[in-house]
Order: sequence, then C-alpha cells, then structure tokens
Amino acid sequence: MPVKLQHILKRVQDLPPLPTSAMRVIALTKNPTTSVKELETVIGQDLALTAGILRQANSAYYGYARRISSLQEAIVILGFQVTQGLAMSAAVAPLLKAQLAGYEIEQEGLWKHSLLTAMVAKRLCQYRKLPYGDVAFTAGLLHDIGKLIISVYVQEVGHYLLKKVTEGKLSYVELEERVIGFDHARVGGFLARAWNLPDDLIAAISFHHSPSKAQSRIELSSIIHVANGLAGLVGMCGGVDSLFNPIEPTALDLLALKDSDLKLLMRDIEKFLVDPSLFS
Ligand SMILES: [Fe+2]
Ligand SMILES: [Fe+2]
Repeated sequence: MPVKLQHILKRVQDLPPLPTSAMRVIALTKNPTTSVKELETVIGQDLALTAGILRQANSAYYGYARRISSLQEAIVILGFQVTQGLAMSAAVAPLLKAQLAGYEIEQEGLWKHSLLTAMVAKRLCQYRKLPYGDVAFTAGLLHDIGKLIISVYVQEVGHYLLKKVTEGKLSYVELEERVIGFDHARVGGFLARAWNLPDDLIAAISFHHSPSKAQSRIELSSIIHVANGLAGLVGMCGGVDSLFNPIEPTALDLLALKDSDLKLLMRDIEKFLVDPSLFS
C-alpha cells in the first residue's frame, strides 16, 4: 500500500489554491503600514469573504453586545489579526465543509472540528498568557487540512487501520504513517507549504499529533495538539481517528495544564457551542 510521495504531491497541487483575496488580506494584515481603508477595499471586493467575516464577528464567540453591521466597523473593533483569522476561515470553509469518507467525516464535520479547535487554541493562549493567540487560531483552523489529501487512501485501508488501532499498540496517525507511508499531519504540512503559509503554521500543522517531535515551535504545536484533543472531548471530533489519537502528557506538562485546567477550558468551550450560528 505505501503511497509514493509524488502521488501525494500531485494531489496537493490539484487542490484549489487559497482565494487571492484571502492571500491579499494575509499580506496586508502583516504589514503595519496598512490602513483600515485598504483592508476594507480588498475584503469588500469579495462578497463571500465579507459575508463570512460579518457572520463570524457577530457570533457569540466574539461576545459583542452590539451588532457589527459594516466591514469597517468589524475591522476596527476586531483588529487586524482577528480580521486575518476570519478571512482565513471564510477562505478555507468551502474546502473543510467537504465530506471525507476515509475518516467517516460527514459534510461540515471537519469544518466544525477545525473552527472549534481554532477557538480553543486561541482561548488556551489567553488562559496561559501565551503570545500566539491569532496564529494559534489560524493553525487550529488549518491543522487537519492534510485529511483532504489522504482521505482517499485512508478509505482503502480504513477497516485495517481500525482493527489495528484497537490493539492499542500504535495511535491512528502512527498507523497512517506505517500503512499509507504518510500521516495527515505531515501531508498537511506539504499543503501549507504549497499555499506559501508562514513557517510557524507549517510546523504547527505538521506536528499537531506529535508536538514533542517538532524541531521548532514546540509550544505552538502543543497548543494545537491540546486544543484538537479538547475539541474531540466535547464531541466535536474531526474524524473516526479522533478517539485513537490521545493527548500527549508531555504537551500538557509543557503548557502546565492539569486536569482542573482542562475542566475549566471545557466549560468555556461549551459556552461557545450554544450559539447555533457559530459554524454556519
Ligand atoms: Fe489531526
Ligand atoms: Fe483534528
């Protein structure tokens, strides 16, 4: 079964690139001299992006009492970094809403899991006073993009993987790597590179199941690892593999998270989940 690297890379290339508007928003929000007006002009040209940003900005997650009705207001109130995260969400939502048979993910399942992981990752940074809030949001949003590429291969060997994983010797991602030749985290890293995403996102995506193996950005990778696990624990799994990819104790230690902290965070997460418009 092992799949050749060139086949994986071909599938990476065949996936649609990120929309130009999202790429321009990312570039503009990174530049400190960009004005609100410039950002508003670029976003405003993309109706889907504008609608996505306004919808998200008005969700319970951001907790604004007043309705945010204009793009300009959203950019000013939320700030450039949050706007960048929202632009990325709107750009990848159509991809992540796909049904992925290999992982037994129904339509929108991966989108909900990814958005929740993003929110939890950001909340975790606030909770631990770590400086990566918005990068962590985007990394959380994109952490499982590799599934879009390798779901077809998982579909072929899914029964075998499930049978093997219940023996408990290896986790699901370790089996993906052994049987298919690549796991979805590493393949996600290939896709992030093809999209020209920054190095911290590439690292966090590549090591979200094995943060202790990351050569750099171990802390950011650990945040995404724990956030992914917590999203699964509240029932928002990103596939059948979620139950068989446990949270590494070393990641919890690195972030100084005890059971009591996890319980507090889970209570927080349940508050976001009451908003029915959150994942629309
Ligand atoms: Fe994953
Ligand atoms: Fe995940």
